[in-house]
Amino acid sequence: MKALVLVGGFGTRLRPITYAIPKQLIPVAGKPMLYHVLDMLPKEIEEVVFASGYKADVLDAYLRSHPLPWPTRCVPEAEPLGTGGGMKNASDGISDPFLLLNSDVIADVRAADVIAFHRRHGGLGTMSLFEVEDTRPYGVAALGEKDRIERFVEKPAPEDAPSHWINAGLQIWARKVIDRIPGGRAVSWENEIVPGLLAEGVYGFRMGGFWEDAGTPERLLRAQRLLFDAHRGGAGSLPRGARGTGPVAAGPGVGAKDATFGPYVHLGEGVVIEAGAHVENSILMDGVHVGLGASVTGAILGPNVRVRPASTIRGQVLGEGSEA
Ligand code: GTP
Repeated sequence: MKALVLVGGFGTRLRPITYAIPKQLIPVAGKPMLYHVLDMLPKEIEEVVFASGYKADVLDAYLRSHPLPWPTRCVPEAEPLGTGGGMKNASDGISDPFLLLNSDVIADVRAADVIAFHRRHGGLGTMSLFEVEDTRPYGVAALGEKDRIERFVEKPAPEDAPSHWINAGLQIWARKVIDRIPGGRAVSWENEIVPGLLAEGVYGFRMGGFWEDAGTPERLLRAQRLLFDAHRGGAGSLPRGARGTGPVAAGPGVGAKDATFGPYVHLGEGVVIEAGAHVENSILMDGVHVGLGASVTGAILGPNVRVRPASTIRGQVLGEGSEA
């Protein structure tokens, strides 16, 4: 089986960091979000095809320098085609059935279990679903007998939501669904295509464990906490000479002597935290420098950001090379 991964979005909610890199390459708990997403896949996957667009060259270069355990291929779009258009554009040589993944969803699920469910239920497709309180930002499924999806509504008003089970971003589809996507224009897979497929048998795989759509700063930091709590953030021990609590995922060349840490921190390559500075619940990308006695909490700092001595950064997202 092959996997088709949607990576073409602009990541507007994670600007200014996403002005320079695609959202999928923002690191959480030790490695880019995308690499955590792909941890769901079994090693038997034949090929991973990326439907890319925005910053496709940056993604392609990263994949080449940090190879995955499967053969990979990027198929960029000249202009954004939406989720459905991106699928169609990248579908040459795709398997039957194929896996479809959103690239910004951190989940405690193994694709192998969803594949086994799909084989048992048959039908045109399987969508993995997760139960949430607030369904407003998501696609919502109404389930019938044997977990067959009877209705699917994208981003309904709360009073119109048919259930609390939302599209968790890991799907399996028969290849022929690609023929249902019109060519030559942007198409939303979830809005325009999925509802029309339900009559042919689409089933819902109810996920347990944890799940987070890491598309906003708050949710990205929550995804990082979930990953650390599930021990998926590497060793998580404090950098040498630092004090406080972990977990901290530190890349090579980090210096943090006499700095203090609260929990849930990612430190990229070459990050320096000067003495007396404090960092917690944050992501500091490669080359960040935090000055003497500064404090960084609930923040996402892009590459080479400089935090001035004694300054306080709370809940901010700072773009590459900025000073605060
Ligand atoms: P925001 O701009 O912050 O909403 O982020 P986003 O652009 O990534 O949008 P969203 O989170 O709704 O996208 C869901 C998934 O579809 C993500 O994995 C995106 O990368 C992907 N995606 C969104 N639009 C496109 C597109 O036009 N083409 C392709 N290939 N993928 C897309």
